[in-house]
Amino acid sequence: MAEFIFKPSNKAVSVNRGCKILVAARKGNIKMRYGCVACRCGTCAVKVDPPLQLIPMADDERDLLANMNLPTDGSIRLGCQTRIQDGSVDVDLDFQDQYSPDQGLLK
Ligand code: FES
Repeated sequence: MAEFIFKPSNKAVSVNRGCKILVAARKGNIKMRYGCVACRCGTCAVKVDPPLQLIPMADDERDLLANMNLPTDGSIRLGCQTRIQDGSVDVDLDFQDQYSPDQGLLK
């Protein structure tokens, strides 16, 4: 088992290995912004910690984050694409108010 801890509520959602962030949020009835669920729109980006507990991003996720001028170092991931490997990962949903898919970081 693994878990996501969604911030700022600190609600923990236990999941099986390989579960996506967005699936866990829906399982836990946690409000999270998303759109296409297909690595196209970029509305589901979240801040994660620690990134190494997650399956590394594929080229299409990296390309979309780069196109949105968001970091591609693993600290920001797309909730519809990102799967947990093991352990516990914090998911900061406040980040969703700090960027725009068409404008990048707002601060
Ligand atoms: S919901 Fe569109 S990229 Fe994740």
